[in-house]
Amino acid sequence: MKTILEKTEIKELIETAIKQLPKAYAPYSGFRVGAALLAENGNVYTGCNIENAAYTPSNCAERTAFFKAVGEEVRCFKAICIVGGKDGMIKDYTEPCGVCRQVMMEFCNPETFEIILAKNTENYKIWTLQELFPMGFGPGNLV
Ligand code: THU
Repeated sequence: MKTILEKTEIKELIETAIKQLPKAYAPYSGFRVGAALLAENGNVYTGCNIENAAYTPSNCAERTAFFKAVGEEVRCFKAICIVGGKDGMIKDYTEPCGVCRQVMMEFCNPETFEIILAKNTENYKIWTLQELFPMGFGPGNLV
């Protein structure tokens, strides 16, 4: 598990992601997800999943965090931490869905952007976007 993040940064991101779980709006699945996105400028943007009665407009925690940041003109990112579980109880790692991986691909360097999947501050795994989304289609494909 290779990382350029400091242990303290990882711990803070995990704690911040966990703090988002009560904010999730997940009345349909009951599955709460929290995210903490570390920007290159040092800011941390938070996100939770936001579901919808029509189901398809639902938004994942990761995308909520990305859209908050990008909506503030912040577009360079170092890492994201994701946690989740039924009724907000974390039992396992929560992997990002394919749509969220594609959104990460838009703004992040797949070789350096780190994705922290955590159960708690002691139990976590770190992957690069490249590892979780090999051969992704990104802005570079359009030039
Ligand atoms: N969800 C996320 O927010 N992030 C993920 O990485 C996986 C899934 C949400 C979507 C939906 O609100 C709920 O979890 C169940 O799929």
